[in-house]
Amino acid sequence: MSRSAHPAGPRHADVLPEGHFPAPPADLNALDAKVWARTVERDQDGVVTVGGIPVTRLAEEFQTPAYILDESDFRARARAWRTAFGHDADVFYAGKAFLCRAVVRWLNEEGLNLDVCSGTELATALSAGMPAERIAFHGNNKTSAEIRRAVEAGVGRIVLDSFQETVRVAHIAQQLGRRQKVQIRVTVGVEAHTHEFIATAHEDQKFGIPLAGGQAAEAVRRVLGLDGLELTGIHSHIGSQIFDMSGFEVAAHRVVGLLRDIRDEHGVELPEIDLGGGLGIAYTSDDDPREPHEIAKALTEIVARECEAARLRTPRISVEPGRAIVGPTAFTLYEVGTIKPLQGLRTYVSVDGGMSDNIRTALYDAEYSVALASRTSDAEPMLVRVVGKHCESGDIVVKDAFLPGDLAPGDLIAVPATGAYCRSMASNYNHALRPPVVAVSDGEARVIVRRETEEDLLRLDVG
Ligand code: LLP
Repeated sequence: MSRSAHPAGPRHADVLPEGHFPAPPADLNALDAKVWARTVERDQDGVVTVGGIPVTRLAEEFQTPAYILDESDFRARARAWRTAFGHDADVFYAGKAFLCRAVVRWLNEEGLNLDVCSGTELATALSAGMPAERIAFHGNNKTSAEIRRAVEAGVGRIVLDSFQETVRVAHIAQQLGRRQKVQIRVTVGVEAHTHEFIATAHEDQKFGIPLAGGQAAEAVRRVLGLDGLELTGIHSHIGSQIFDMSGFEVAAHRVVGLLRDIRDEHGVELPEIDLGGGLGIAYTSDDDPREPHEIAKALTEIVARECEAARLRTPRISVEPGRAIVGPTAFTLYEVGTIKPLQGLRTYVSVDGGMSDNIRTALYDAEYSVALASRTSDAEPMLVRVVGKHCESGDIVVKDAFLPGDLAPGDLIAVPATGAYCRSMASNYNHALRPPVVAVSDGEARVIVRRETEEDLLRLDVG
């Protein structure tokens, strides 16, 4: 095929340095179910649809860029986690991944609890009717005002993160005449990312109290000595985007070791253990995440085995998945603008958003997939880098991907698996207006977080 047939860029075969880039997929029009929300498919015209609604209609009605969230998928994943862990365990959705009032209502209806890590996440949860006793409050630097608000509201759990905070929470609880349920977040010396974990590292971080050197044991002593606090358990969170369960195995072993020491020293068996979140999702076809029921089985067995060995009653387990619930349920819809082929390198495809709506690629070198969404194409694959419109050369949304060589300005492209840590980490860089979140369910689309407007931004600018 001649190059003129691909005005947008050179052919894959012309430019790919051997072995350096992933091979183009066999069929660029195919949508790998692993990375897309459950109701996503192509209609007869080749347009991507979600919940039966074509993205062309969504773009017309809500403009781009926009996060499109499949509500039925969110509910199904939340329910799958809930069912997998059953009634002897608790699932706390980690609100930091993405939180808004609609999400709080869905969680409430599906029987999940909620993790918050700021006073304003707490306010969002309470304003949408999440019962306070189903909320856990996290954070390494909760202010006294935040703690007071949480205790007053009656949150079910405050996760203590330092010695100073222990005293602060106890003091506030006493002032309010309450006895606050707390867990202590410990660092177990395990750091897990994707397929790797390190079992003897990483106490050098801002979260938690190290098990090492008896510091966590000392925190337990202090908490047990404070009237305003009821210690219900130990908390551990080991990392992000984890597929390999062996990190949890080491963490559970070490946490249960602490529970055993607590029993031996104080004669109390703490009734709860929280293993945190961090379970991975598929961002590209290369990722193979586990199903919630497999994760639940593995974690429950690990804890039961460790407790049996320590002759402890098995505590009630809780987990805190954020990404694994919301991540796969949304995609970002962009309109293609400038297309710039760089001879012998790749083609830069600019979209109408960028690092302001997805900072993860710039920040973590995260990998994403992308698809032409407003039509199909039989053109040759073209190696692209999808970039934003911001004044920053690191403003990359998808680093290496293939799109059809006939891609043109005005086409819609969609980046899947952007439900977690995209809207919640969005910024106003270059005074970008943060995109809306549109929830689609049963053939209906509605805005659950509206697009920011120029007036919103100017209202803050009071100079
Ligand atoms: N529990 C605790 C105590 C956490 O610190 C976190 C995440 C979670 C649960 C939820 O983790 P998840 O299941 O969503 O992985 N911004 C980063 C992720 C930061 C996660 C911080 N803590 C990213 O975009 O990958």
